[in-house]
Amino acid sequence: MLLINIVRNTIALALSIALMSCGRTKNSSISSADDKVSELISQMTLEEKLGQMLQVDPGVYSSTIDLEKAIADGKIGSLLNIIGAQKVNRLQKIAIEQSRLHIPLIVGRDVIHGFRTIMPIPLGMAATWDTTIVKRAMEVAATEARAAGVHWTFAPMIDISRDARWGRIAESCGEDTYLTSVMTNAMVKGFQGDEITNHSVAACAKHYVGYGAAEGGRDYNTTNISEYYLRNIYLPPFKTAVDAGALTFMSAFNSLNGVPASGNAHTIRDILKTEWQFDGFVVSDWASVKDMVTHGYCETDADAAQAGINAGVDMEMSSDCYIQNAAKLIKDGKLKMSQIDDAVRRILKVKATLGLFEHPYTNESLAEKNTLTLQNLAVAQQAAEKSAVLLKNDGILPLKNNMKVALIGPLANAAHDQMGTWVFDGNKADSRTLKMALESTPGISVKYAAGLQYSRDEDESGFAEARRTAANADVCVLALGEESILSGEAHCLAKLVLQGHQQQLFETLKATGKPVVVVIMAGRPLAISKIVSKANAVLYAFHPGTMAGPALANLLYGIAIPEGRLPLTFVVDEGQIPLYYNYENTCRPAPENNPTSLKTIPVEAVQYSLGNSSFYLDYGSKPLFPFGYGLSYTTFEYRTLQLSSEKINTNSRLTVKCNITNTGQTRGTETVQLYLRDRVASFIRPIKELRGFQKITLNPGEQKEVAFNISAKDLGFYSPNGAFLVEPGAFDVWIGPNAEEGLKSSFAFE
Ligand code: NOJ
Repeated sequence: MLLINIVRNTIALALSIALMSCGRTKNSSISSADDKVSELISQMTLEEKLGQMLQVDPGVYSSTIDLEKAIADGKIGSLLNIIGAQKVNRLQKIAIEQSRLHIPLIVGRDVIHGFRTIMPIPLGMAATWDTTIVKRAMEVAATEARAAGVHWTFAPMIDISRDARWGRIAESCGEDTYLTSVMTNAMVKGFQGDEITNHSVAACAKHYVGYGAAEGGRDYNTTNISEYYLRNIYLPPFKTAVDAGALTFMSAFNSLNGVPASGNAHTIRDILKTEWQFDGFVVSDWASVKDMVTHGYCETDADAAQAGINAGVDMEMSSDCYIQNAAKLIKDGKLKMSQIDDAVRRILKVKATLGLFEHPYTNESLAEKNTLTLQNLAVAQQAAEKSAVLLKNDGILPLKNNMKVALIGPLANAAHDQMGTWVFDGNKADSRTLKMALESTPGISVKYAAGLQYSRDEDESGFAEARRTAANADVCVLALGEESILSGEAHCLAKLVLQGHQQQLFETLKATGKPVVVVIMAGRPLAISKIVSKANAVLYAFHPGTMAGPALANLLYGIAIPEGRLPLTFVVDEGQIPLYYNYENTCRPAPENNPTSLKTIPVEAVQYSLGNSSFYLDYGSKPLFPFGYGLSYTTFEYRTLQLSSEKINTNSRLTVKCNITNTGQTRGTETVQLYLRDRVASFIRPIKELRGFQKITLNPGEQKEVAFNISAKDLGFYSPNGAFLVEPGAFDVWIGPNAEEGLKSSFAFE
C-alpha cells in the first residue's frame, strides 16, 4: 500500500512539474517548477542523481551494460546518437514507466546545419549576414530533428577561429566576435523558438571555451588566451547565447592556459554560472571529463570526476567518471551533495522547460510530414543562395541562356560532398547537385565532364574529355573545392591550396581560351590566389547543403543575385595565418603598399627598408580578400558620411549615416558595415571592429540613406577582470562594404 502511494505521488509530482513549467516563461510558473524540481530531488537517491548526470551513446554503452535495465534503474538521464521516434519512444517508455521517479530521458544529437534537409555549413550560414534566414534554417532543423525524437542539439558551435587549417572552422561563424554573436542569437532562437514548443530543440552553446584557438590549427590542441582576449574575443558569443536563452552549454576538449576547459572552474563556475547567471546545464564534450587524465591534469578517473563537478560540468557525455566515483568522493568529503543537487536541478529544469515531463513521447507520425518538405527545401535553397560569395567577376556572370556551357569538375556532381561536415542524418540521395540543376533547366545547353573524380584525385586521364567539352562550349563552369571529409572535427590541414590536380585541371581548361567560371565548394577559406588571378569569375560556396545545385545554378544565371559576404579573411598563403581584420596596430604597422613578392627586394641591398615594419617579405601583410568582402551583379556607391554630432557621452547617442546608391544595371542587395576604432585606450584596441551591419536591397539607380546609432556600449571593451570600460577619447568610424574599404570619420567620447 505504502509503495503504491509513493508511486502515485511521484507520478503526480512529475506531472505537476510538467504542468507548471513546460517552457512557459511566466515567473510564477518558473518558481513553481523550481519548487517541484526541488521536491523531486528530495526524493532521489544519490545513485539516481548521478544517473541524471550521465549521458550515454547506446551504440557504445549497450555493448558493455544492459542499457534498458540501466534506464529502468534510473541510472541514465540522457542519451545521444539514437534516432527515430519509435526507437526513442521505446526507451523513453522504460524511463517513464519503469524508473522509480518516472523522469524522462533527454535525447541529444549533433544537428549542426540541418537534420535531413541540409543547410549550408555554419560558416556559410554566417556568410549570409542574414539573421532571418539563419533563424529560419535552424527552425527547420529543429522541427525535423524533434520529429525524429531529438530533444536537444549540440549547436550552435560559436568558437571564434582565426586559423583555416583547423577543420572545425567549417562549423564556426568565422573570425569575428560581433558577427558570431549576432549569428548565435539567431541560431539559438531558431533551434529553441521564441517560445519552447514541441517543435523546439534545446540549443547547446559550444565549445566552452577557447577551442577555436587550437595551436597550429590542430584539433584538440592547446590554447593560450589571456584573460583580456578571452573576455573580448572568445567569450562574448557565449554571453549572447546565455542572453538568448540557450538551455545548455558544452565544455570543450582543449586546455586553456594550462587547465582543461572541462575542469575550469574559473570559466564555468565563476564566469558562466555566477557572473552571467546561466541557469541551464553544462554537458561535457565526448569523454572530456575522463580526458583530463590524458591531459595530465588528473591522475585517476575519480580525480577527473572531482575536477569536472567542481568546475561545474553538470552532465558527463560518454565517459562514466561521475557515476563510478562521485558517491565515494562525497563520502570522503571531496565533493558536496549540494554540488550534485545543483547539477541535477539544472538538468531537471531543462527537461521540464522542454516539456518532457508532460510530453515525453514523440508523435510517430510527424517525421514524414515534417521532413524534407518543399518548404524546408526552399529554405535550404534560399540559405545556399544567400551564403555564396562572389569573389571575382569580369562580367562573364550572370551567364546568358544561349551560352553553351561545359560543366566540369569534381564538385559538379558531388551529392555527398556538397553537404559538408556533420551530416549524420543527411542523405546524399536527397541532394540536388549543380549538374542535376543545370541539366534539368529547360533552354540551357550543358555538357558535363568530371575531369577529376574527387577533390584529391591526381589522375589526369579525364582531362582530355574535359578539354574537348570546354573547347566545344562558350563558357566553362568549373566546380572545384574540397570533399566534406577534409574539414570538420579532427580534419585539419597544413596546406590550404586546392587538393589533388585541381589547379592543373583549371590550367588545362584555361588553355582552351574559353572563359572559366570557377565555383568552389569547401569547408574553409582555401588559398586560391592562383585561381583568382586567372579565372573570369569565382563564386565561393561554403559547403552549401542539400540544395547546392539549384542555388548555384540560380546564382550563375542571375535568377538569384549574389549577396554573401566573407565571415573571415582569405589568406594568399597559409603561411600568413593568423591573419584577421581586427588586428592591433603594433609599434610598426605595415605601410599601405608593402611588397607581395621577394622579387621586389633589391638583390644587393644591405638593408631593405620599408620602415622596419610588420609584414612578410614574400607575402606582405595583405589578405587575398578581406573580412566582409563580396560582390554583386551590380555595384554600390557610398557617399556623404555624416555624423549627428562630433561628441558622445554616456547619456547620448550618435547617429552615423551615409547614402548608398545602386550604380549598376541590376537590382541587388548590399551589406552595409559599420566599423569602429578606439584610438587610444588602457588596453590596445584593434585597428577596427565590426559593430553593426544592415542589408539593403536597391533597384538600379535607387539610393538609400543607411543610419547606425552608436551609444557608449558600442565603444567599450572588457578589462581582464570583466569590467566593461568605455574610455574617453577619439574614435574612428567607417561605413563601408568590407573591412578594408569605406568612408571614414571620427568623433570623441567624453
Ligand atoms: C565531439 C564534438 O567535439 C562535439 O562538438 C559533439 O557535439 C560531440 N562529439 C557529440 O557528438
